[in-house]
Amino acid sequence: MCGIVGYIGFRNATDVLIDGLRRLEYRGYDSAGVAVRTPEGLRVVKRSGKLSVLAEALKEERLEGPWGIGHTRWATHGAPTDPNAHPHTTEDGRIAVIHNGIIENYLELKEALRARGHRFRSETDSEVLAHLIEEKYQGDLFQALREALMEVRGAYAVVAVHQDHEELVAARTVSPLVIGLGEGENFLASDVPALLPYTRRVIFLHDGDLARITREGVEIRDLEGNPLAREVVEIDWTLEAAEKGGFPHYMLKEIYEQPWVLENTLGGRLREEEGDVELGLGLDSKALERIHVIACGTAAYAGWYGKYLLEALARIPTEWDVASEYRYRDPVVDERTLAIAISQSGETIDTLEGLREAKAKGARTLGVINAKGSSLTREVEDVLYIHAGPEIGVASTKAYIAMLAAMAMLAVHLGRGRGTLSQEGARELLREMRKLPRLVEEVLEKRPLVAHIAEKYHQAQDFLFLGRHVQAPTAYEGALKLKEISYIHAEAYPAGEMKHGPIALIDEHLPVVVLATRGPLYEKTLSNIQEVRARGGKVIAIATEGDGEIPKLAQDVIPVPEVHPLLAPIVSVVPLQLLAYEIAVLLGRDVDQPRNLAKSVTVE
Ligand code: G6P
Repeated sequence: MCGIVGYIGFRNATDVLIDGLRRLEYRGYDSAGVAVRTPEGLRVVKRSGKLSVLAEALKEERLEGPWGIGHTRWATHGAPTDPNAHPHTTEDGRIAVIHNGIIENYLELKEALRARGHRFRSETDSEVLAHLIEEKYQGDLFQALREALMEVRGAYAVVAVHQDHEELVAARTVSPLVIGLGEGENFLASDVPALLPYTRRVIFLHDGDLARITREGVEIRDLEGNPLAREVVEIDWTLEAAEKGGFPHYMLKEIYEQPWVLENTLGGRLREEEGDVELGLGLDSKALERIHVIACGTAAYAGWYGKYLLEALARIPTEWDVASEYRYRDPVVDERTLAIAISQSGETIDTLEGLREAKAKGARTLGVINAKGSSLTREVEDVLYIHAGPEIGVASTKAYIAMLAAMAMLAVHLGRGRGTLSQEGARELLREMRKLPRLVEEVLEKRPLVAHIAEKYHQAQDFLFLGRHVQAPTAYEGALKLKEISYIHAEAYPAGEMKHGPIALIDEHLPVVVLATRGPLYEKTLSNIQEVRARGGKVIAIATEGDGEIPKLAQDVIPVPEVHPLLAPIVSVVPLQLLAYEIAVLLGRDVDQPRNLAKSVTVE
């Protein structure tokens, strides 16, 4: 995982590269570097640490030139040091390379290159690319890259420059790479936000594509050298949408965007009259015998929620796995299995590989995805876009809520198709879904209350989150948010399971967040709250507005508006996002770029 940018044109490349890297910092922020063709030749400046460190260094050492490449790193092979930062250059400094991904056979390549006299300056897998290209180079950089890649196994988005050729040459397999098309200038980046200040016309490179980019144009070929035609896509995201919009953090901005995200996800798809949802999928719901849901992190919890709904409404046996487990457990799949991969980025390698596993075994495939043009969208037969817009905060919020809404729509649609959900039942759910944007807006008004609770508990060492049925995934997501951005240890448990172990943890120091909204298991959850209280635990309850019982039992209550119990997680997760956010801010954490994490994990 890393962020890549490239520029060739009439502006000062350094400025474009730093600006682009800033928008890609969510992909990694262990080190950063640029290589720019200056009048004196190709020059590299790179530094460990965040992009701001590099930007400072560039104030001292101005690099002026019309083309160059830049990189922000998330360390895999080799510590985040200056030498391990990209770009990597050849010994004579004429070729520079940036890379995102993993070269699986780099050790054997490195040994062979060393034996042939190459000297390495970093511990990275990426540096072998620079040396390999140098070896193959005979006056044509594109050709050299192509030949070098023939020897490489692994994942890459790679860009190379040579000081004597006014061009960027690039290739991708697995890791994303997008070309931005301008007038008299062209761009390259790992992701669209880096291109938006300059152009909306982009080409998403596919696996195995190589590109030669000059000021005037773009040439794309496959690894064998055959020319390829790739579609030019017009991006409809505004730059403003990809930036903070006045909030102190992207995460907070994204939490506040959730009402309109829900409008986007649901809007135009709900058909209350018919009691159905228009998803434009080519699925024959009656032909399905089972569903496997695969995802990672926050998306995995959306998958778990989806399992409950798919079984409840469509009565299809549904298994749910984190993708890294799914891939290696030899799942039982046949052509009557629908594999659903859920992913914000569409680039998470575990999810992609899990999906490929299901596909290889004959499953039908569906992606529930945010990022248009991402790798996953090209590997699945059907895509259900969640339309959450660009999500920059490393901790996922608005994508989660949109994933929940998408899974709920899918379950209604399949339930109607199979006749397991009545028209009236569907109508009721759809009417409730229609209210969601407004209900989430109401919850956002509770921020002062949540901030007050955060103030009370932000010094706690541990937190426990409890929820049952559809609220179990909400509890897990609440704990994940807190862990990710505040670094407080937080555990989640299905509330009914608490008595089988975690109850031993409860004492007067442990805040316990309980999802206690109205629904079939409400009474049981009340008993769980009693159990916590009896042992001195501090209860923070998320309860349905107007609930008279819970305030008698819990120290703190965050009321959320009433909604159909199956949809309650969509409103209940919002206070948990806010709680994690407020606690992280009080503790002075880096909310948008928490330590050790990356937004999109394209390594296994
Ligand atoms: C990373 C991020 C998580 C995210 C997960 C899955 O671990 O830090 O926030 O939920 O990847 O990402 P995806 O893009 O596949 O939804």
